[in-house]
Amino acid sequence: MKLVYALRGQINYLFYRWIARPLIFLWEAETAHNKLKQFGLLFASNVLGRRLLKALFYYQHPSLNTTVDGIKYDNPIGLSAGFDKDGELTDAYPLIGFGFAELGSFTGDVCPGNPGVGRRLFRLVKSKSILVWYGLNNQGAEAIAKRLKGKKFKIPIGISAAKTNNAASFDLQNSIDDYLKTVNEFKEIGHYYTVNISCPNTQDGEPFVDQKNLDALLSALDKVKQESKPVYIKMAADLEIDEINIIVDACLKHKIDGLVLTNLTKPSMSDEYLKEELTFDKGALSGLPVQRISTKVVRHVYQRTRGKITIIGVGGVFSADDAYEKITSGANLIELITSMIFEGPQVVSEINRGLVELLKKDGFTSIEAAVGSRNPLL
Ligand SMILES: Cc1cc2nc3c(=O)[nH]c(=O)nc-3n(C[C@H](O)[C@H](O)[C@H](O)COP(=O)(O)O)c2cc1C
Repeated sequence: MKLVYALRGQINYLFYRWIARPLIFLWEAETAHNKLKQFGLLFASNVLGRRLLKALFYYQHPSLNTTVDGIKYDNPIGLSAGFDKDGELTDAYPLIGFGFAELGSFTGDVCPGNPGVGRRLFRLVKSKSILVWYGLNNQGAEAIAKRLKGKKFKIPIGISAAKTNNAASFDLQNSIDDYLKTVNEFKEIGHYYTVNISCPNTQDGEPFVDQKNLDALLSALDKVKQESKPVYIKMAADLEIDEINIIVDACLKHKIDGLVLTNLTKPSMSDEYLKEELTFDKGALSGLPVQRISTKVVRHVYQRTRGKITIIGVGGVFSADDAYEKITSGANLIELITSMIFEGPQVVSEINRGLVELLKKDGFTSIEAAVGSRNPLL
């Protein structure tokens, strides 16, 4: 069976790399994103399509099962927030082999995102990165929650809540209310929340890096938090150590369950991309440019929290080695988007297959045993 999966992965990769990707990349990146979601919807909406997706991409192995904050995951590889901004493709993700999916980010109000629809995403192919200038476009928490209410999910679903990007000036109470609106709308939907305080593309910046603002937000979340649903905070990539420590310590103080590390990196903060590929002067980078930065943050936060809170590692995970590096640095779960776009959807099962081998090689019988194993607590 191992050989069959290896062969399937290789054929899928070659098909995507040399046939599907050149065609997809003929579209502007934002158009391609929308078209691919339509394809996904089409496949997931009928029995034949679902069978095909499963036959082409699904992979599972018992050593990948993991439980985090009481939630059972078939494997630790999840979809990161930002791919499914309106929560439309939840039937497709389990078939592709994802262990979980984070939807959104959803905002309290309907949010059209930044101006320039159709030209808000840019591929940096050689740098294995996407420049993102979306600005949190989504249909708004109310409409999305109404559509998803009562839906049975086959894998754990994270609800990413962000603040509506509709004002250049910051108002603390309005902003907190905006987050709480999404949290309330999704009370009965999904398995965990991520509170995204780190969108690099919003008009009023990242005001919740400020200690007082963050404290107010976390106090408000304390009051509405449900026992059964963990709350994670998504952190920016480009913070100073002191800023990271302020956020981590506030999360510990408020008994936040974990951190998602990290969001995109600003072009001025990373050297790991080809400057000539940058053709737009706004936005922030995913993929390879954020890979090392996010792993470094995972390592630091794992030490700072003494491994006591959940870490979801995200940023530039293209291979099983990349995922394993984040896991052995302290991440309990992994998320990705960019590798799926550059390498194809089989990347999820290929990473999972590789993780099974890496665990075995190191003598671990579970993901839990590997978490932080190459980042011993000092
Ligand atoms: C097209 C796109 C849209 C994104 N939108 C969001 C978002 O709405 N909320 C969020 O928390 N992160 C968003 N992100 C950041 C990703 O969740 C992730 O943190 C980042 O891309 C690094 O992972 P990757 O290298 O695997 O893509 C977005 C990323 C991309 C590529």
